[in-house]
Amino acid sequence: MKLGLIGFPVQHSKSPWIHQHFLDQLGLTGRYHLIEIEPDQFVAEINRLKTSDLTGFNITIPYKEKIIPFLDGMSPEAEAIGAVNTVVCQNQKWYGHNTDGLGLITALKVQFPDLFTGGKTVLLLGAGGASRGIYHALLQENFSEIMIANRTVERAQMLLKLNQTSIKGEAISFAEAEERLAEFDLVIQTTSVGMSPDSDSRVIDLDRLKKDTVVSDIVYQPFWTSLLKEAKAHGGRVHHGHEMLIYQAKLAFELWTQQSVDAKPLLERFNQD
Ligand code: ATR
Repeated sequence: MKLGLIGFPVQHSKSPWIHQHFLDQLGLTGRYHLIEIEPDQFVAEINRLKTSDLTGFNITIPYKEKIIPFLDGMSPEAEAIGAVNTVVCQNQKWYGHNTDGLGLITALKVQFPDLFTGGKTVLLLGAGGASRGIYHALLQENFSEIMIANRTVERAQMLLKLNQTSIKGEAISFAEAEERLAEFDLVIQTTSVGMSPDSDSRVIDLDRLKKDTVVSDIVYQPFWTSLLKEAKAHGGRVHHGHEMLIYQAKLAFELWTQQSVDAKPLLERFNQD
């Protein structure tokens, strides 16, 4: 089984480690390759790979949208989100999926099932590519309200257009999010702010955080982001970024193999490796 990750850059990716674990768990022989493609080589390399023996691959920054013209079909989620992170290859036909948002929601459901009993409220921080996938997945659940806060509020307003449901939604500023923080049961940080080492991911101040509110940060390095540390100090429950990383990989692996794998052993090992 030949799997891989296409992106630029990809050297520091943890995906080979995750997928090797899944291959071993099922006793399958195969390998997950890092396929780094320079932007000016993208079209030529993708056309070359189209005739290769890949079983499937993940696709990451900066190609999650650029891959779309090379696909033969897309899942309804990927279509709605307008971005792909997983491609299944069958008889030289490529099918695009997006497991990022569902990966996060699946992880949250396992750790905090009480959030999904109905009527809970969500604050989504950020309105970029990552936020879009997560927002789409949130809309499939029974939340009563999903607010989107972003530095550029117009971008949050554009994202609200994905909402074809009865779930209440509003685009707000970070200042308003801070002000209304006590209204939310779940806060999800999706901006790219905390992604560079030592950067401060506290895009908003958590002074008004309600006790037991779950704060989820999609940044997984460091394990304890500054936002999660502050959430913990305010009595919140925290959800670390590696959960989404592992669950999006689990869902991708299951699409490639049509077999289910257990994410728990990996979650336990993540912080030890
Ligand atoms: P990604 O695909 O990682 O989500 P993106 O589409 O460029 O990347 O989106 C980045 C997100 O991080 C956006 O919500 C962006 O806010 P703007 O829409 O206002 O640009 C947010 N972001 C990036 N740098 C930021 C900063 N310094 N402060 C606050 N938000 C920031």
